[in-house]
Amino acid sequence: MIFGAVLAGGVGSRMNISDMPKQFLPLGEKPIILHTLEKFLMCNRFDRIYVGVHPNWQLHMQDLLDKHLAGAPVTIVPGGGDRNSTILNIIDAVEKDHGESDEHIIVTHDSVRPFVTLRIINENIDAAIRYGACDTVVPAIDTIVVSKDGEEIAEIPNRSLMYQGQTPQSFKMSMLKNLYHDLSEEEKEVLTDACKICVVRNTPVKLVAGEISNLKITTVSDYKIAQAMVGGIDVD
Ligand code: CTP
Repeated sequence: MIFGAVLAGGVGSRMNISDMPKQFLPLGEKPIILHTLEKFLMCNRFDRIYVGVHPNWQLHMQDLLDKHLAGAPVTIVPGGGDRNSTILNIIDAVEKDHGESDEHIIVTHDSVRPFVTLRIINENIDAAIRYGACDTVVPAIDTIVVSKDGEEIAEIPNRSLMYQGQTPQSFKMSMLKNLYHDLSEEEKEVLTDACKICVVRNTPVKLVAGEISNLKITTVSDYKIAQAMVGGIDVD
């Protein structure tokens, strides 16, 4: 079976314009998270879509579903203390609802990337089935500079080898769970990126081509760009 895992357990501290986590802020006519869920619902390969929401905002999320997506195959589960814990909470809920299977696929996605496309979602599902794990990336546009102390350049890697990671990141669910539980507590705290769980355990991760437009709304300027993209306002 194939499951969507929309991650909305964060509180958006870097956005800093509202007490409301950024995934609930309006974008055009509806909250950001509804744009994201609607993209997932456009893909008819999902058996169910789980959304991991901070416990303080679960009622609000339920209201949004009742109002805008009544009857849609979406289940709310409590988010965790960090991004990977939210993913693991979703895996636990899937296994409780649908049983454990080595064939289950999970497509994890930031709730604050509302411009994901059906093509990206479908290619994630195909790659997870075929390779076991995949990451959505775009070639790095800027030159990447490495500094160990924040003062001086240590290295400038060859840009043609550099990519920027986006989401979705998709996995054979039981494999991701087993690799995660194999991590030490220190590793769990540091490894906030789900693909890195595979990489540190030498498990191959296939690349799927993302889109520059699949932006993550992290800061107020990202939010303004997203609003311009839906025709809401002009960017300053
Ligand atoms: N996320 C999550 N559970 C957490 C933390 C983050 O599901 N415990 C989700 C966020 O809701 C977001 C995605 O992971 O959709 C990407 O994280 P980020 O942009 O860092 O979101 P926040 O943690 O909300 O933002 P900030 O770091 O600025 O507080």
